[in-house]
Amino acid sequence: MKFYITTPIYYPNDIPHIGHAYTTIAADVLSRWNKSRGNNVFFLTGTDDHGKKIAQTAKKAGKTPKEFTDELIPKFKEAWKKLNIKYDRFIRTTDKDHEKVVSKILQLVYDKGDIYKGTYEGFYCTGCEAYYTEKDIENNRCPIHKTEVEKLKQESYFFKLSKYKKKLLDLYNKNPEFILPDSKRKEIISRVKKELRDLSISRTDFDWGIPLPFDKKHVCYVWFDALFNYYSATRTKGKEKFWPADVHLIGKDILWFHTVYWPAFLISAGIELPKTVFAHGWWTFDKEKISKSRGKVLNVDDLIEIAGVDSARYFLIRETPLGDDGDFSEKSLVNRNNNELANDLGNLLSRTLTLIEKNFNSEIPKSKSELTFDIGKIDKLMKNYELDKALAEIWKFVNKCNKYINDKKPWEVKDKEKLAKILYTLTDSLRIISILLHPFIPETSEKINKQLNIKLGTLKDCKPNLLKKTKIKKGEHLFKKI
Ligand code: ME8
Ligand code: MG
Repeated sequence: MKFYITTPIYYPNDIPHIGHAYTTIAADVLSRWNKSRGNNVFFLTGTDDHGKKIAQTAKKAGKTPKEFTDELIPKFKEAWKKLNIKYDRFIRTTDKDHEKVVSKILQLVYDKGDIYKGTYEGFYCTGCEAYYTEKDIENNRCPIHKTEVEKLKQESYFFKLSKYKKKLLDLYNKNPEFILPDSKRKEIISRVKKELRDLSISRTDFDWGIPLPFDKKHVCYVWFDALFNYYSATRTKGKEKFWPADVHLIGKDILWFHTVYWPAFLISAGIELPKTVFAHGWWTFDKEKISKSRGKVLNVDDLIEIAGVDSARYFLIRETPLGDDGDFSEKSLVNRNNNELANDLGNLLSRTLTLIEKNFNSEIPKSKSELTFDIGKIDKLMKNYELDKALAEIWKFVNKCNKYINDKKPWEVKDKEKLAKILYTLTDSLRIISILLHPFIPETSEKINKQLNIKLGTLKDCKPNLLKKTKIKKGEHLFKKI
Protein backbone atom coordinates (compact mmCIF):
# COMPACT_ATOMS: atom_id res chain seq x y z
CA MET A 1 0.00 0.00 0.00
CA LYS A 2 1.09 3.56 -0.62
CA PHE A 3 1.34 6.13 2.13
CA TYR A 4 1.72 9.82 1.31
CA ILE A 5 2.50 12.19 4.17
CA THR A 6 3.27 15.91 4.09
CA THR A 7 4.38 18.68 6.44
CA PRO A 8 3.41 22.30 5.92
CA ILE A 9 5.80 24.08 3.61
CA TYR A 10 7.37 26.59 5.98
CA TYR A 11 8.00 30.26 5.26
CA PRO A 12 11.72 30.61 4.66
CA ASN A 13 11.85 34.02 6.33
CA ASP A 14 14.06 32.76 9.16
CA ILE A 15 15.84 29.57 10.22
CA PRO A 16 13.58 26.77 11.48
CA HIS A 17 12.82 26.52 15.20
CA ILE A 18 11.49 23.87 17.52
CA GLY A 19 7.92 24.29 16.23
CA HIS A 20 8.93 23.51 12.66
CA ALA A 21 11.17 20.72 13.92
CA TYR A 22 8.26 19.19 15.81
CA THR A 23 5.98 18.77 12.80
CA THR A 24 8.82 17.52 10.65
CA ILE A 25 10.00 14.99 13.23
CA ALA A 26 6.46 13.71 13.79
CA ALA A 27 6.03 13.30 10.03
CA ASP A 28 9.38 11.51 9.84
CA VAL A 29 8.30 9.12 12.60
CA LEU A 30 5.05 8.33 10.79
CA SER A 31 6.85 7.98 7.49
CA ARG A 32 9.45 5.59 8.90
CA TRP A 33 6.79 3.60 10.77
CA ASN A 34 4.86 3.13 7.55
CA LYS A 35 8.00 2.06 5.73
CA SER A 36 8.62 -0.48 8.42
CA ARG A 37 5.03 -1.64 7.99
CA GLY A 38 5.96 -2.36 4.37
CA ASN A 39 4.16 0.57 2.76
CA ASN A 40 5.41 2.47 -0.24
CA VAL A 41 5.94 5.87 1.37
CA PHE A 42 6.25 9.35 -0.08
CA PHE A 43 7.22 11.99 2.48
CA LEU A 44 7.10 15.60 1.32
CA THR A 45 8.33 18.74 3.01
CA GLY A 46 9.53 22.09 1.69
CA THR A 47 9.17 25.84 1.77
CA ASP A 48 6.57 28.46 0.92
CA ASP A 49 8.71 30.96 -0.95
CA HIS A 50 6.18 33.41 -2.38
CA GLY A 51 4.01 36.10 -0.88
CA LYS A 52 4.22 39.48 0.72
CA LYS A 53 5.80 38.31 3.97
CA ILE A 54 8.85 36.90 2.18
CA ALA A 55 9.00 39.89 -0.19
CA GLN A 56 9.04 42.27 2.79
CA THR A 57 11.60 40.34 4.82
CA ALA A 58 13.89 40.08 1.79
CA LYS A 59 13.59 43.79 1.17
CA LYS A 60 14.57 44.57 4.75
CA ALA A 61 17.63 42.38 4.26
CA GLY A 62 18.48 44.30 1.08
CA LYS A 63 17.98 41.27 -1.15
CA THR A 64 15.63 40.11 -3.83
CA PRO A 65 13.13 37.53 -2.60
CA LYS A 66 14.80 34.89 -4.76
CA GLU A 67 18.27 35.65 -3.38
CA PHE A 68 16.92 35.79 0.13
CA THR A 69 15.10 32.46 -0.02
CA ASP A 70 17.94 30.78 -1.90
CA GLU A 71 20.16 31.55 1.07
CA LEU A 72 17.68 30.24 3.64
CA ILE A 73 16.65 26.98 1.99
CA PRO A 74 20.02 25.30 2.72
CA LYS A 75 19.46 26.13 6.42
CA PHE A 76 16.22 24.17 6.36
CA LYS A 77 17.82 21.26 4.58
CA GLU A 78 20.75 21.26 7.03
CA ALA A 79 18.40 21.35 10.00
CA TRP A 80 16.42 18.37 8.70
CA LYS A 81 19.62 16.50 7.98
CA LYS A 82 20.89 17.10 11.50
CA LEU A 83 17.61 15.86 12.91
CA ASN A 84 17.91 12.72 10.80
CA ILE A 85 14.78 13.45 8.80
CA LYS A 86 14.46 11.36 5.66
CA TYR A 87 12.07 13.14 3.34
CA ASP A 88 11.61 12.08 -0.27
CA ARG A 89 11.27 15.53 -1.78
CA PHE A 90 11.92 19.05 -0.62
CA ILE A 91 9.57 21.21 -2.66
CA ARG A 92 9.77 24.98 -3.07
CA THR A 93 6.87 26.95 -4.46
CA THR A 94 9.39 28.56 -6.81
CA ASP A 95 10.06 25.13 -8.38
CA LYS A 96 9.08 25.28 -12.03
CA ASP A 97 6.98 22.11 -11.98
CA HIS A 98 4.93 23.50 -9.10
CA GLU A 99 4.41 26.89 -10.73
CA LYS A 100 3.14 25.18 -13.86
CA VAL A 101 0.61 23.10 -11.96
CA VAL A 102 -0.72 26.13 -10.07
CA SER A 103 -1.02 28.14 -13.25
CA LYS A 104 -2.89 25.32 -14.97
CA ILE A 105 -5.29 24.93 -12.08
CA LEU A 106 -5.97 28.65 -11.84
CA GLN A 107 -6.97 28.61 -15.50
CA LEU A 108 -9.12 25.53 -15.01
CA VAL A 109 -10.97 26.97 -12.02
CA TYR A 110 -11.40 30.26 -13.87
CA ASP A 111 -12.78 28.54 -16.97
CA LYS A 112 -15.18 26.68 -14.76
CA GLY A 113 -16.57 29.99 -13.53
CA ASP A 114 -15.38 29.71 -9.92
CA ILE A 115 -13.16 32.79 -10.15
CA TYR A 116 -14.57 36.26 -10.78
CA LYS A 117 -13.26 39.82 -10.69
CA GLY A 118 -14.30 42.23 -7.95
CA THR A 119 -12.92 44.63 -5.37
CA TYR A 120 -11.46 43.48 -2.09
CA GLU A 121 -12.12 45.83 0.75
CA GLY A 122 -10.96 44.68 4.13
CA PHE A 123 -7.92 43.87 6.21
CA TYR A 124 -4.84 41.75 5.74
CA CYS A 125 -2.19 40.48 8.14
CA THR A 126 1.04 39.81 6.32
CA GLY A 127 2.34 37.79 9.30
CA CYS A 128 -0.53 35.34 8.80
CA GLU A 129 -0.87 35.96 5.07
CA ALA A 130 -4.58 36.05 5.82
CA TYR A 131 -7.60 38.27 5.26
CA TYR A 132 -9.54 39.61 8.21
CA THR A 133 -12.87 41.33 8.59
CA GLU A 134 -13.74 44.18 10.93
CA LYS A 135 -15.00 41.86 13.61
CA ASP A 136 -11.87 39.65 13.63
CA ILE A 137 -9.56 42.50 14.58
CA GLU A 138 -9.09 44.52 17.72
CA ASN A 139 -7.86 48.12 17.57
CA ASN A 140 -6.71 47.44 14.03
CA ARG A 141 -4.51 44.60 15.24
CA CYS A 142 -4.25 41.00 14.07
CA PRO A 143 -5.73 38.60 16.63
CA ILE A 144 -2.67 36.35 16.35
CA HIS A 145 0.31 38.60 15.77
CA LYS A 146 -1.08 41.64 17.60
CA THR A 147 0.55 43.74 14.92
CA GLU A 148 -1.31 46.32 12.90
CA VAL A 149 -3.26 44.94 9.96
CA GLU A 150 -3.17 46.51 6.54
CA LYS A 151 -6.33 48.07 5.15
CA LEU A 152 -6.81 47.06 1.56
CA LYS A 153 -9.07 48.31 -1.16
CA GLN A 154 -8.09 46.96 -4.52
CA GLU A 155 -9.19 45.13 -7.61
CA SER A 156 -8.97 41.44 -6.94
CA TYR A 157 -10.11 38.11 -8.24
CA PHE A 158 -12.30 36.08 -5.95
CA PHE A 159 -12.77 32.37 -5.56
CA LYS A 160 -16.41 31.36 -5.03
CA LEU A 161 -15.83 29.78 -1.65
CA SER A 162 -19.36 30.46 -0.41
CA LYS A 163 -20.67 28.17 -3.12
CA TYR A 164 -18.92 25.21 -1.45
CA LYS A 165 -20.40 25.57 2.01
CA LYS A 166 -22.77 22.63 1.73
CA LYS A 167 -20.19 20.41 0.01
CA LEU A 168 -17.69 21.13 2.76
CA LEU A 169 -20.16 20.38 5.55
CA ASP A 170 -21.05 17.14 3.78
CA LEU A 171 -17.39 16.27 3.55
CA TYR A 172 -16.84 16.76 7.30
CA ASN A 173 -19.95 14.79 8.17
CA LYS A 174 -19.40 11.88 5.84
CA ASN A 175 -15.67 11.60 6.49
CA PRO A 176 -15.04 12.08 10.18
CA GLU A 177 -11.36 11.25 9.63
CA PHE A 178 -10.95 14.21 7.25
CA ILE A 179 -10.21 16.50 10.20
CA LEU A 180 -8.35 15.09 13.19
CA PRO A 181 -8.38 15.31 16.17
CA ASP A 182 -12.15 15.24 16.46
CA SER A 183 -12.33 18.34 18.69
CA LYS A 184 -10.82 20.31 15.83
CA ARG A 185 -13.36 18.93 13.40
CA LYS A 186 -16.16 20.29 15.55
CA GLU A 187 -14.55 23.73 15.66
CA ILE A 188 -14.31 23.87 11.89
CA ILE A 189 -17.87 22.67 11.36
CA SER A 190 -19.28 25.38 13.57
CA ARG A 191 -17.17 28.10 11.93
CA VAL A 192 -18.11 27.01 8.43
CA LYS A 193 -21.78 26.89 9.39
CA LYS A 194 -21.58 30.47 10.62
CA GLU A 195 -20.10 32.18 7.64
CA LEU A 196 -18.23 31.43 4.48
CA ARG A 197 -17.35 34.36 2.26
CA ASP A 198 -15.80 34.31 -1.16
CA LEU A 199 -12.05 34.51 -0.97
CA SER A 200 -9.80 37.11 -2.54
CA ILE A 201 -7.13 35.14 -4.37
CA SER A 202 -5.06 37.81 -6.07
CA ARG A 203 -3.14 40.99 -5.37
CA THR A 204 -1.80 43.77 -7.56
CA ASP A 205 0.37 45.70 -5.08
CA PHE A 206 3.40 43.39 -5.28
CA ASP A 207 4.65 40.84 -7.77
CA TRP A 208 6.43 38.09 -5.80
CA GLY A 209 4.19 35.20 -6.76
CA ILE A 210 2.63 33.27 -9.58
CA PRO A 211 0.85 35.55 -12.10
CA LEU A 212 -2.77 34.73 -12.83
CA PRO A 213 -2.70 33.15 -16.30
CA PHE A 214 -5.84 35.07 -17.32
CA ASP A 215 -4.68 38.46 -15.98
CA LYS A 216 -0.94 38.88 -15.57
CA LYS A 217 -1.30 42.14 -13.61
CA HIS A 218 -2.33 40.01 -10.65
CA VAL A 219 -0.29 37.58 -8.58
CA CYS A 220 -1.90 34.58 -7.00
CA TYR A 221 -2.69 34.67 -3.27
CA VAL A 222 0.11 32.87 -1.46
CA TRP A 223 -2.18 30.26 0.16
CA PHE A 224 -3.74 29.22 -3.15
CA ASP A 225 -0.23 28.74 -4.49
CA ALA A 226 1.14 27.03 -1.36
CA LEU A 227 -1.59 24.48 -0.73
CA PHE A 228 -1.21 23.05 -4.22
CA ASN A 229 2.38 22.03 -3.42
CA TYR A 230 1.00 18.79 -1.99
CA TYR A 231 -0.63 17.99 -5.29
CA SER A 232 2.05 19.28 -7.66
CA ALA A 233 4.67 17.06 -5.99
CA THR A 234 2.66 14.10 -7.30
CA ARG A 235 2.48 15.38 -10.89
CA THR A 236 6.00 14.24 -11.70
CA LYS A 237 6.78 10.93 -13.31
CA GLY A 238 6.32 7.94 -11.05
CA LYS A 239 4.73 9.96 -8.25
CA GLU A 240 1.16 10.14 -9.61
CA LYS A 241 0.07 7.10 -7.65
CA PHE A 242 0.66 8.87 -4.35
CA TRP A 243 -2.25 11.28 -4.77
CA PRO A 244 -4.51 11.68 -2.78
CA ALA A 245 -2.40 12.36 0.30
CA ASP A 246 -3.01 10.06 3.23
CA VAL A 247 -2.26 12.73 5.78
CA HIS A 248 -1.35 16.39 5.83
CA LEU A 249 0.31 16.89 9.20
CA ILE A 250 0.07 20.54 10.23
CA GLY A 251 -0.03 22.80 13.28
CA LYS A 252 -3.41 23.95 14.51
CA ASP A 253 -2.61 27.52 13.40
CA ILE A 254 -3.25 26.65 9.77
CA LEU A 255 -6.18 24.28 10.10
CA TRP A 256 -8.71 26.62 8.49
CA PHE A 257 -6.63 26.95 5.32
CA HIS A 258 -6.21 23.19 5.08
CA THR A 259 -9.74 22.09 5.85
CA VAL A 260 -11.79 24.86 4.24
CA TYR A 261 -9.88 26.53 1.41
CA TRP A 262 -7.93 23.47 0.37
CA PRO A 263 -10.80 20.99 -0.14
CA ALA A 264 -12.89 23.72 -1.79
CA PHE A 265 -10.09 24.45 -4.29
CA LEU A 266 -9.73 20.75 -4.98
CA ILE A 267 -13.45 20.12 -5.44
CA SER A 268 -13.59 23.05 -7.82
CA ALA A 269 -10.62 21.70 -9.79
CA GLY A 270 -12.16 18.22 -9.82
CA ILE A 271 -9.30 16.65 -7.89
CA GLU A 272 -9.68 13.88 -5.35
CA LEU A 273 -9.47 15.00 -1.72
CA PRO A 274 -6.79 14.07 0.82
CA LYS A 275 -7.88 11.55 3.42
CA THR A 276 -6.84 13.30 6.59
CA VAL A 277 -5.66 16.66 7.84
CA PHE A 278 -4.20 16.19 11.29
CA ALA A 279 -3.66 19.34 13.35
CA HIS A 280 -1.15 18.96 16.12
CA GLY A 281 -0.87 21.22 19.15
CA TRP A 282 1.20 24.27 19.83
CA TRP A 283 4.53 24.38 21.66
CA THR A 284 5.29 27.16 24.03
CA PHE A 285 8.68 27.95 25.48
CA ASP A 286 8.77 28.32 29.27
CA LYS A 287 5.00 28.71 29.07
CA GLU A 288 5.30 31.64 26.68
CA LYS A 289 4.59 31.99 22.99
CA ILE A 290 7.67 31.23 20.91
CA SER A 291 8.98 34.61 19.89
CA LYS A 292 12.26 35.56 18.42
CA SER A 293 12.05 39.19 19.41
CA ARG A 294 11.56 38.28 23.07
CA GLY A 295 14.33 35.69 23.05
CA LYS A 296 11.80 32.91 23.61
CA VAL A 297 12.93 30.71 20.80
CA LEU A 298 14.88 27.53 20.43
CA ASN A 299 16.30 26.80 17.01
CA VAL A 300 17.30 23.36 15.84
CA ASP A 301 20.96 23.68 16.86
CA ASP A 302 20.00 24.78 20.39
CA LEU A 303 17.60 21.89 20.64
CA ILE A 304 20.18 19.32 19.58
CA GLU A 305 22.83 20.79 21.84
CA ILE A 306 20.94 19.93 25.02
CA ALA A 307 21.20 16.15 24.83
CA GLY A 308 21.68 15.16 21.21
CA VAL A 309 19.40 14.45 18.28
CA ASP A 310 17.69 11.32 19.52
CA SER A 311 16.96 12.72 22.95
CA ALA A 312 15.35 15.73 21.26
CA ARG A 313 13.29 13.54 18.93
CA TYR A 314 12.29 11.26 21.79
CA PHE A 315 11.36 14.13 24.08
CA LEU A 316 9.21 15.99 21.55
CA ILE A 317 7.20 12.92 20.63
CA ARG A 318 6.93 11.47 24.13
CA GLU A 319 6.17 14.64 26.06
CA THR A 320 2.65 15.40 24.80
CA PRO A 321 -0.08 13.77 22.71
CA LEU A 322 0.16 14.92 19.09
CA GLY A 323 -3.09 16.86 19.24
CA ASP A 324 -2.31 18.69 22.50
CA ASP A 325 -0.28 21.77 23.25
CA GLY A 326 3.09 21.31 24.91
CA ASP A 327 5.51 23.38 26.87
CA PHE A 328 9.17 23.01 26.15
CA SER A 329 11.27 22.67 29.23
CA GLU A 330 14.93 21.84 29.14
CA LYS A 331 14.63 20.20 32.54
CA SER A 332 12.05 17.76 31.30
CA LEU A 333 14.16 16.91 28.25
CA VAL A 334 17.19 16.25 30.46
CA ASN A 335 15.09 14.10 32.83
CA ARG A 336 13.83 11.96 30.01
CA ASN A 337 17.34 11.66 28.61
CA ASN A 338 18.73 10.55 31.95
CA ASN A 339 15.92 8.32 33.18
CA GLU A 340 14.28 6.79 30.18
CA LEU A 341 17.01 6.80 27.56
CA ALA A 342 20.23 6.44 29.56
CA ASN A 343 18.87 4.31 32.43
CA ASP A 344 15.97 2.27 31.11
CA LEU A 345 17.24 1.66 27.60
CA GLY A 346 21.00 2.30 27.68
CA ASN A 347 21.61 0.28 30.83
CA LEU A 348 19.48 -2.59 29.58
CA LEU A 349 21.70 -2.94 26.53
CA SER A 350 25.00 -2.49 28.31
CA ARG A 351 24.14 -4.84 31.19
CA THR A 352 23.02 -7.52 28.77
CA LEU A 353 26.04 -7.25 26.52
CA THR A 354 28.49 -7.16 29.43
CA LEU A 355 27.09 -10.48 30.64
CA ILE A 356 27.40 -12.02 27.18
CA GLU A 357 30.98 -10.80 26.88
CA LYS A 358 31.87 -12.24 30.25
CA ASN A 359 30.05 -15.55 30.12
CA PHE A 360 29.84 -16.48 26.47
CA ASN A 361 32.89 -14.91 24.94
CA SER A 362 30.65 -12.36 23.15
CA GLU A 363 28.67 -15.00 21.33
CA ILE A 364 24.91 -15.01 21.92
CA PRO A 365 23.80 -18.62 22.14
CA LYS A 366 20.57 -19.53 20.34
CA SER A 367 17.85 -20.37 22.83
CA LYS A 368 14.15 -19.70 23.36
CA SER A 369 12.77 -16.38 24.54
CA GLU A 370 10.77 -16.27 27.72
CA LEU A 371 9.10 -12.94 26.93
CA THR A 372 6.08 -12.52 24.70
CA PHE A 373 5.47 -9.50 22.52
CA ASP A 374 2.54 -8.34 20.45
CA ILE A 375 2.89 -5.50 17.96
CA GLY A 376 -0.88 -5.12 17.47
CA LYS A 377 -1.54 -2.58 20.19
CA ILE A 378 1.39 -0.34 19.25
CA ASP A 379 0.59 -0.45 15.54
CA LYS A 380 -2.97 0.56 16.29
CA LEU A 381 -1.81 3.50 18.39
CA MET A 382 0.42 4.58 15.50
CA LYS A 383 -2.48 4.35 13.07
CA ASN A 384 -4.44 6.61 15.42
CA TYR A 385 -1.61 9.16 15.55
CA GLU A 386 -1.10 8.43 19.26
CA LEU A 387 2.64 8.60 18.95
CA ASP A 388 3.26 9.41 22.60
CA LYS A 389 1.22 6.42 23.72
CA ALA A 390 2.97 4.15 21.25
CA LEU A 391 6.30 5.22 22.73
CA ALA A 392 4.95 4.67 26.24
CA GLU A 393 3.85 1.20 25.17
CA ILE A 394 7.31 0.46 23.73
CA TRP A 395 8.74 1.61 27.03
CA LYS A 396 6.53 -0.87 28.85
CA PHE A 397 8.33 -3.56 26.91
CA VAL A 398 11.73 -2.02 27.71
CA ASN A 399 10.84 -2.05 31.36
CA LYS A 400 9.43 -5.55 31.14
CA CYS A 401 12.95 -6.53 30.08
CA ASN A 402 14.40 -4.55 32.97
CA LYS A 403 12.10 -6.32 35.39
CA TYR A 404 13.03 -9.65 33.83
CA ILE A 405 16.74 -9.04 34.27
CA ASN A 406 16.23 -7.92 37.87
CA ASP A 407 14.04 -10.92 38.68
CA LYS A 408 16.29 -13.48 36.99
CA LYS A 409 19.55 -12.03 38.37
CA PRO A 410 21.68 -13.54 35.57
CA TRP A 411 24.87 -12.44 37.37
CA GLU A 412 24.07 -15.06 40.03
CA VAL A 413 23.09 -17.86 37.63
CA LYS A 414 25.71 -20.59 37.38
CA ASP A 415 23.86 -23.01 35.08
CA LYS A 416 25.09 -22.22 31.53
CA GLU A 417 21.92 -23.32 29.82
CA LYS A 418 19.70 -21.26 32.11
CA LEU A 419 21.99 -18.29 31.67
CA ALA A 420 21.90 -18.71 27.90
CA LYS A 421 18.13 -18.62 27.96
CA ILE A 422 18.05 -15.40 29.98
CA LEU A 423 20.58 -13.65 27.77
CA TYR A 424 18.93 -14.85 24.60
CA THR A 425 15.60 -13.55 25.86
CA LEU A 426 17.16 -10.16 26.51
CA THR A 427 19.03 -9.82 23.24
CA ASP A 428 16.11 -11.08 21.19
CA SER A 429 13.92 -8.51 22.97
CA LEU A 430 16.48 -5.79 22.26
CA ARG A 431 16.30 -6.78 18.60
CA ILE A 432 12.54 -6.15 18.68
CA ILE A 433 13.03 -2.90 20.58
CA SER A 434 15.47 -1.67 17.95
CA ILE A 435 12.84 -2.19 15.25
CA LEU A 436 10.15 -0.43 17.26
CA LEU A 437 12.38 2.49 18.12
CA HIS A 438 13.86 3.01 14.70
CA PRO A 439 11.14 5.41 13.48
CA PHE A 440 11.49 7.51 16.64
CA ILE A 441 15.23 7.44 17.34
CA PRO A 442 16.86 5.96 14.24
CA GLU A 443 20.47 6.56 15.23
CA THR A 444 20.03 4.80 18.56
CA SER A 445 18.30 1.91 16.89
CA GLU A 446 21.23 1.57 14.52
CA LYS A 447 23.66 1.64 17.44
CA ILE A 448 21.75 -1.17 19.13
CA ASN A 449 21.86 -3.22 15.96
CA LYS A 450 25.52 -2.57 15.51
CA GLN A 451 26.27 -3.76 19.02
CA LEU A 452 24.06 -6.82 18.55
CA ASN A 453 25.75 -7.24 15.19
CA ILE A 454 22.50 -7.78 13.33
CA LYS A 455 20.55 -6.07 10.54
CA LEU A 456 17.53 -3.91 11.26
CA GLY A 457 14.27 -5.76 10.79
CA THR A 458 10.81 -4.44 9.98
CA LEU A 459 7.51 -4.62 11.86
CA LYS A 460 6.84 -8.13 10.65
CA ASP A 461 9.97 -9.22 12.54
CA CYS A 462 8.58 -7.92 15.82
CA LYS A 463 7.95 -11.35 17.21
CA PRO A 464 10.15 -13.34 19.57
CA ASN A 465 12.80 -15.90 18.69
CA LEU A 466 13.97 -14.58 15.31
CA LEU A 467 17.45 -13.76 16.61
CA LYS A 468 20.10 -16.15 15.33
CA LYS A 469 23.42 -16.90 16.90
CA THR A 470 25.55 -13.77 16.63
CA LYS A 471 28.83 -12.39 17.86
CA ILE A 472 28.10 -9.13 19.65
CA LYS A 473 30.26 -6.03 19.53
CA LYS A 474 29.75 -4.17 22.76
CA GLY A 475 30.24 -0.45 22.21
CA GLU A 476 29.78 2.80 24.03
CA HIS A 477 26.81 3.48 26.26
CA LEU A 478 23.85 4.66 24.14
CA PHE A 479 23.24 7.90 26.02
CA LYS A 480 25.26 10.22 28.19
CA LYS A 481 23.65 11.38 31.38
CA ILE A 482 23.49 15.11 31.80
O1 ME8 B 1 2.11 28.64 8.00
N1 ME8 B 1 4.33 24.79 17.88
O2 ME8 B 1 4.32 28.44 7.46
P1 ME8 B 1 5.02 28.70 8.88
C1 ME8 B 1 4.06 23.79 17.02
N2 ME8 B 1 3.79 28.65 4.92
N3 ME8 B 1 4.24 23.88 15.70
C2 ME8 B 1 4.72 25.03 15.21
C3 ME8 B 1 5.03 26.12 16.05
C4 ME8 B 1 4.81 25.97 17.44
N4 ME8 B 1 5.06 26.94 18.31
N5 ME8 B 1 5.48 27.12 15.28
C5 ME8 B 1 5.46 26.67 13.99
C6 ME8 B 1 2.99 28.52 7.18
N6 ME8 B 1 5.01 25.40 13.95
C7 ME8 B 1 2.67 28.31 5.73
C8 ME8 B 1 2.24 26.87 5.52
S1 ME8 B 1 1.33 24.87 4.01
C9 ME8 B 1 0.62 24.74 2.50
C10 ME8 B 1 1.79 26.55 4.13
C11 ME8 B 1 4.89 24.57 12.74
O3 ME8 B 1 6.48 28.86 8.59
C12 ME8 B 1 3.47 24.03 12.56
O4 ME8 B 1 3.53 22.93 11.71
O5 ME8 B 1 4.34 29.77 9.62
C13 ME8 B 1 2.79 25.17 11.87
O6 ME8 B 1 1.59 24.78 11.24
C14 ME8 B 1 3.86 25.57 10.88
O7 ME8 B 1 5.09 25.40 11.61
C15 ME8 B 1 3.72 27.00 10.37
O8 ME8 B 1 4.86 27.30 9.62
MG1 MG C 1 3.19 31.02 10.85
